[in-house]
Formats: sequence, structure tokens, C-alpha cells
Amino acid sequence: MSEAPSPHSRATPGTSPASAEVKIAAAAPQLELRGVTKRFGGVAAVDGVSFEVAKGEIVGIIGPNGAGKTTLLNCISGVHRLDGGDIRWEGASIAGMAPHRIARLGIGRTFQIVRPFGSMTVRENAAIGALFGSAEARRGVKGAFELADEVLELVGLSAKGRHPVSALTIPDRKRLEVARAVATRPHLLLLDEVMAGLNNVEIDEALEMVRAVHATGVTVLLIEHVMRVIVGICRRAVVLDFGQVLAQGEPEVVLRDERVIQAYLGERYAKRLRAEREQDGTH
Ligand SMILES: Nc1ncnc2c1ncn2[C@@H]1O[C@H](COP(=O)(O)OP(=O)(O)O)[C@@H](O)[C@H]1O
Ligand SMILES: [Mg+2]
Repeated sequence: MSEAPSPHSRATPGTSPASAEVKIAAAAPQLELRGVTKRFGGVAAVDGVSFEVAKGEIVGIIGPNGAGKTTLLNCISGVHRLDGGDIRWEGASIAGMAPHRIARLGIGRTFQIVRPFGSMTVRENAAIGALFGSAEARRGVKGAFELADEVLELVGLSAKGRHPVSALTIPDRKRLEVARAVATRPHLLLLDEVMAGLNNVEIDEALEMVRAVHATGVTVLLIEHVMRVIVGICRRAVVLDFGQVLAQGEPEVVLRDERVIQAYLGERYAKRLRAEREQDGTH
């Protein structure tokens, strides 16, 4: 198996989003999924999924429960071995690579079920991300704590750095999970429902947090059920249903797709959409 090129041989992220966007058009995809398939027993949880993510994009993955969204992130981050297809990162296959090696290439992730080290402080938990991340992240214990302070600031948790994790509210635990992932200094961040269970104000704060992380030059691939989030920050959305890509494209277009409404959004959403369109006078 060929070794993927080091992400550090490329220009480091950090260019302004506008100039990053200009470069995307001609560049090869940063992440490329080709016919990705993962079976559990006889059932294909992910079934021939193909799409690309360009450097600097924010792409949303949506779809009903059980559609295979989390399984797909597990395939990308190396938790699952593929039963078919290929995943290419910055031009080279990462299929079959161990999760820690994939993390070191610059792919960071959060987990849908958040499992922080409860007896440790918020700052210590964030520092763990730095100790196990990409080469930019790994810089010894002192450096790890400096990076932890930086990411806690970014996610709005710096005032709580010395608190034990057990004292955190649910939204703060989600922030910490993002902080831990960002501390690995990923070039691509995979987020699995980091806004689930949050109220509207908390969702707005979480949106700002994702925007702030993205503005540091990180590509984002996120699973989310909150449509406001998908429409608000994603340039493209990929809809999964029964492990397959049902639709993909601009969020506004995808969310008006009849098949997507039937499979996922449901009739109540369709009614609301029609009412909104009549109010706006747009059709
Ligand atoms: N480790 C596993 N072992 C067996 N079946 C699994 C496993 N993980 C997921 N599945 C099954 O794969 C399908 C997709 O699950 P999942 O990827 O969690 O969906 P989603 O995140 O879209 O809700 C479901 O039918 C689920 O039961
Ligand atoms: Mg899931």
C-alpha cells in the first residue's frame, strides 16, 4: 500500500476564506470517496457512496436515522475497514489505514457519543487532542497545553479550563468535544451531530464555533439534523438514505428535492416550505 503524502508538504491552511475559495475551483479534491461500502452481517450500512470534498469547503451530510451517516464517518477516520471502494486523502488512498495514522495525516473527528475523561479538567481533555494529533499538533506536554488554551478560546470555553469535565453542561461538553478534535490540528474536521440536543441560542453559538474553526483554514464535513445549520453554513449537502447517496448539491436545492422530502424531511416540512414560499412570494 502506498504511503499518503504528508499534509505538511502542502501550503498550511490559514489563507483567507475568499482566496481559499478561488483556489478550490481548479484543485483536486482534498477528500474523495469512491464507491465506499461497509457491511454489517449481510446489511450494507454504507452502500457505494461516492462524493468529493474540496479543501476549504463545509459539506453537510444529512439523512434519516440509520441511513449510515456515522458509519461513513467511521470509514473515513479508519474505525471501520471498508468492504468495498476507496477513500483518497490529498491524492492517496487511506483505505485500511489505522485510525491514529489517519489522524496524523490531518483528519480529526468528534464522536456522536461524547466520552470525555471525566475526572480530568477541561484543559487537560483538550490537551489530549494535541498530544495525539497531526504533526502540527504534537509538540510536547507544555506545547499541548498552549494549544489547548488556544482551542478553548476558539470554542468559548477558556473561562472553564480548570473545571472538571463532570461539572460541564451538555452544550459545554459538545464544545469540549470540538475543542479536543480541533486540538489535533486537523486539515479536515469530521463533526457528528455536535448540535443535537442544543436549544436555538446554543445552536447559534455552535454555528459561530464551527465558522470560527473553518476560518482558521479547516475543511469541515458535518452530520447534522438541524436544517438551519445545513443551510446556514454548508456550501453543499449530501443526503444519505439506506446507505446510498439520494441527492447532493446546494442545500437549498437538495432540501426542495421531492425524494429528499419523502425519505427524510417529511410532509410537515414540505407544508412549512410551501407556506414560507407563499409568504415570500417566491416559487
Ligand atoms: N458496529 C455496528 N455493528 C452492526 N451494525 C451497525 C454498527 N454500526 C452501525 N450499524 C448499523 O448500520 C446502520 C447505519 O447506522 P449509522 O451509521 O449509525 O446511521 P446514522 O448515523 O445515519 O443514524 C444501522 O442499521 C445500524 O444499526
Ligand atoms: Mg449517527
